Amino acid sequence: MSATSRCRVCAGSLAEFFDFGRQPLSDAFVRPDDFADEFFVRLAVGICESCTMVQLMEEIPRDRMFHEDYPYVSSGSAVMRAHFEKLARRLLATELTGEDPFVVELGCNDGVMLKAIADAGVRHLGVEPSGGVAEMAHAKGIRVRKDFFEETTARDILATDGRADVIYAANTLCHIPYIESILRGVTALLAPTGVFVFEDPYFSEIVERTSFDQIYDEHFYFFTVRAVQAMAARFDLELVDVERLPVHGGEVRYTLAHAGARTPTAAVAELLADENKRNLAAMPTLKGFARNVERIRDDLVALLRDLRDDGKRVVGYGATAKSATVTNYCGIGPELVPFVCDTTVAKQGKLTPGSHIPVREPSAFAEPYPDYALLFAWNHAEEIMAKERAFREAGGKWILYVPEVHVV
Ligand code: SAH
Ligand code: TYD
Ligand code: ZN
Repeated sequence: MSATSRCRVCAGSLAEFFDFGRQPLSDAFVRPDDFADEFFVRLAVGICESCTMVQLMEEIPRDRMFHEDYPYVSSGSAVMRAHFEKLARRLLATELTGEDPFVVELGCNDGVMLKAIADAGVRHLGVEPSGGVAEMAHAKGIRVRKDFFEETTARDILATDGRADVIYAANTLCHIPYIESILRGVTALLAPTGVFVFEDPYFSEIVERTSFDQIYDEHFYFFTVRAVQAMAARFDLELVDVERLPVHGGEVRYTLAHAGARTPTAAVAELLADENKRNLAAMPTLKGFARNVERIRDDLVALLRDLRDDGKRVVGYGATAKSATVTNYCGIGPELVPFVCDTTVAKQGKLTPGSHIPVREPSAFAEPYPDYALLFAWNHAEEIMAKERAFREAGGKWILYVPEVHVV
């Protein structure tokens, strides 16, 4: 238990509830001949005893994670492309109807959401520190500022572009420990009637499904309605809407507005009541989650060992950031899973961080099909299983470990 860690939102004391031990940076894929200087951190998670925000116990310097070679590309999933296009159309129809509206996106990545905004001719700016993906967005005709968003960035944008009607962040706010600077920036940049909309993995869903692989270096915060509501109030903002999303294993889209500017919807109180009913912030609940994580680790390792001893071939599917937690925490390496296939060109030919499983192109999956595929990208199960129908037809089976280890 780390006695020195303090809540990054309210400075309350943190009660640690799970320690994954020494973990690598989840997106730091390594060259086969060059992994001597891999960077490891203690990955442990705790809850603030004051504001209930769930967060990592250790903070990782941001430049180590988000840089020119950051490999994650948002457009890799057709389901996610459709998800972001739908959201863009909704924002255009409901929030961006005034004269010369302006949208700012934090962590726009390759421009998957802003493309639809740009195509509609609406004024926008993507703020994206990772150079490779920022360049992809730029190549799509999107206006990008290669930078970390924080208070100074917000004030700078305010000076050049004026106030934003919408500030949007998907799977990005939870990545940012210095959230007080972000929220001060949002408060300064947001138009009086504007909205700050962000969507991230929902902690209630992580506990419910024991999706412990959502916990890795980049995911610093695990939001709940209760903690987000308390956090918003500290910055003169107010949580005015919540919406559950099926993507990435279960997320919530939160809408904040300036305090008093909008009437909160019934959905906020309903989801808050659900969290209370589940005792989500109580230590026994969190300890129960910890026991479930250990059980899944034991079951998964036992299954993979049995399959190996039976002479079965198992390959990994999807070199996700999440899989770094699974492989390193469970001690799964190339002796159990000889390779993992992934569509991301920047990951292919490299080894998974820490666990050193070779990453290969998707065509390697069928050459020939393995007996079992361990689905690390389980959040894209429907899309991937549809795409790989021939694998099942050839007798192949999928191994999943959420919400428990099972074979389909
Ligand atoms: N919005 C995309 C990308 C999520 S990955 C999606 O949902 O698929 C998280 C992104 O946040 C990365 O591209 C990373 O470079 C970016 N990021 C990290 N810190 C940031 C900051 N302070 N401001 C803006 N973007 C940031
Ligand atoms: P994702 O689960 O979106 O995120 P994270 O890395 O944050 O855990 O990552 C999906 C990974 O799976 C990504 O590397 C691309 C890969 N992928 C495939 O190889 N094939 C597919 O059909 C899809 C949808 C993803
Ligand atoms: Zn706190």
